[in-house]
Amino acid sequence: MRMPNPFAAASEKGGLVAEPHTTVKPAPRSRVQTMKEYHPPLDNRDALRLDFNENTLACSPKVREVLGSISTGDLTRYPERGPVEEIVAAHLGLAPQQVALTNGVDEAIHVLFETFLESGDELLLPVPTYTMYEIYASTTDANTIAVQADDDLRFPFERLLSALTPRTKIIAIANPNSPSGSIASREQIIELARRAPQAVVLVDEAYFHFHGETIVDLIDIIPNLIMARTFSKAYGLAGLRIGVLVGPAESMRWIRRVLSPYSVNSLALACLPSALNDAAYLDWYVSEVLAARSEFELVLDSAEIRRWPSRANFILVDIGPQHGEFVRLMSVGGVLVRDRSSDPGCDGRVRITVGTRQQMQQAACVLKDTVSRLQIGRASQ
Ligand SMILES: Cc1ncc(COP(=O)(O)O)c(C=O)c1O
Repeated sequence: MRMPNPFAAASEKGGLVAEPHTTVKPAPRSRVQTMKEYHPPLDNRDALRLDFNENTLACSPKVREVLGSISTGDLTRYPERGPVEEIVAAHLGLAPQQVALTNGVDEAIHVLFETFLESGDELLLPVPTYTMYEIYASTTDANTIAVQADDDLRFPFERLLSALTPRTKIIAIANPNSPSGSIASREQIIELARRAPQAVVLVDEAYFHFHGETIVDLIDIIPNLIMARTFSKAYGLAGLRIGVLVGPAESMRWIRRVLSPYSVNSLALACLPSALNDAAYLDWYVSEVLAARSEFELVLDSAEIRRWPSRANFILVDIGPQHGEFVRLMSVGGVLVRDRSSDPGCDGRVRITVGTRQQMQQAACVLKDTVSRLQIGRASQ
């Protein structure tokens, strides 16, 4: 027998409408209620984008060709990631079972944390660092243990060793780190993995191409090491959302249980092999950024603006109390930069992405004008 729908009442017109039947509302988990909201400033970005550490120019032209060849019929199919995972595994010198493609490294972090962190576990986080580690950890029942870097923002290795406990379950290391641009050495990573065998040591190599050093060769050797790489930065594919997580096959099996089989879309999967194949384009873009970084460092030094040494495609600078106005005036001049003042230990600091030499010459003009208007650095003397 068909039962009447208790949530529906006949409207005046005779159709069915839902009516509020109670004041009780479903409540999210308490951890979700207390977690911080994160709203990256992504609106109105039609300017020189030196705010999100993206590639500031374009991805490989070979990717454009692939996009042009995709048919509407191709879009009707669910994405198949396996064959592309094999290509990425071969590219990294690993077996396909050691590799999972993800919807950007953000999904990799989220899934890794969901797979390993449970109530009472500790995520050890050298700070300041990439915001999403703390955000995703706060949706789990684990505790985040923040380990503050000194004013030089170097990797707080000794302090991390002292903070290890039997409950340490993940140590998340962005290498190079954002927003500082500082690095952890290979020896430091190995030592942390050795001293905390119960913990996953996540090495997030989002900015690997600008640094040139990797721990990918250790994946076969150190059983608690996991590495992530994004295709959003040097490769210029941030809009396609694709990243990769690699680790021992056994850990990857657990991670795959949590990972959606469809989270990497078919456009990203179609484009990735061409992006990987075009090494010439990648090398050109990286060398352009490295040359621009050296030139821009000289501009900052001659303006007497304090900066932190960077191994990535961005530079953190100390603007001081006028950081908000600095970011605003740079944006009025057509250059977007990122205020990092609310990061732990970063009061007054602003992060500037490095693009091509030509773009950084434009940024240098706007910067010189801005510091002289605000009387910052040399302009204050
Ligand atoms: C250290 C680090 N990891 C991961 C990401 C995000 O990468 P994706 O775009 O692949 O999600 C960023 C982006 O800024 C980052 O700085």
